[in-house]
Amino acid sequence: MFERGSFWRPSKRRRKPKESWTVEDVDLQKVPKHVAIIMDGNGRWAKKRGLPRIAGHHEGMKAVRRIVRLCSQLNVEALTLYAFSTENWKRPKAEVEYILGLPEEFLGTFLPELIEENVRVEVMGEQNKLPASTVNTVRRAMKDTESNTGLILNFALNYGSRQEIIEACKSLAEDIENETIDKKDITEELLSSYMATCYLDDPDLLIRTSGEQRLSNFMLWQLAYTELWFTDVLWPDFQEEHLLEAIIQFQGRGRRFGGV
Ligand code: IPE
Ligand code: IPE
Ligand code: MG
Repeated sequence: MFERGSFWRPSKRRRKPKESWTVEDVDLQKVPKHVAIIMDGNGRWAKKRGLPRIAGHHEGMKAVRRIVRLCSQLNVEALTLYAFSTENWKRPKAEVEYILGLPEEFLGTFLPELIEENVRVEVMGEQNKLPASTVNTVRRAMKDTESNTGLILNFALNYGSRQEIIEACKSLAEDIENETIDKKDITEELLSSYMATCYLDDPDLLIRTSGEQRLSNFMLWQLAYTELWFTDVLWPDFQEEHLLEAIIQFQGRGRRFGGV
């Protein structure tokens, strides 16, 4: 602090306009380990421009690329991206087909870059009903990156949290039936180990774009103590500065996990 006349003021101006956040503003010791994003607003982005909704989904891929790179740079351990929900089948067939073709386009273009950045690709969701070409591309990407040790890029594709919990319960019930697990051994940790995220810590930070403030069947079990951050920015407009802003705000929050 320094004084001018009798008025105390900080020697550094702390509040910057949002658009000018840089990596230097982030406390690199306190970066969230697992960031999850509900990438929403592609359709509205397109509509605002008089374009078909699929143009928004296409543009959204560029935001994925930007955010993956920044997460890698910040040493985020895992980034989970909600790409297609079990409820999204309600959309027009042509839109569904387009969205389900995007993993092929994305990985076809950016897999070499992901490999170079030491990113490991993972997917969670129901494989059945997905086009065979999508499944094959995703499997190849997982295989080609399985020994990478950098950012885990986890796509939620044909994912629904309730479905995930049902699948976990079924497997657990089977293991009780075949006596590999005893009912009295069921704990939070045990049930977590039956989830698609068994190899990941729970998300520290959840971001949802486009102004909607709901979870839309995303990671209901895993988000129990996650910090939530909502923005009106539409996903295709989501820039590095927005992620930095979310992380900086996250770093200013007190996480008590029920304690004091
Ligand atoms: C999110 O954008 C992408 C997916 C759900 C696949 P939307 O397509 O939901 O965009 P809005 O919400 O209609 O603007
Ligand atoms: C959630 O967005 C699903 C994805 C981002 C993949 P939606 O746009 O489908 O969610 P609702 O319908 O607004 O809840
Ligand atoms: Mg939406």
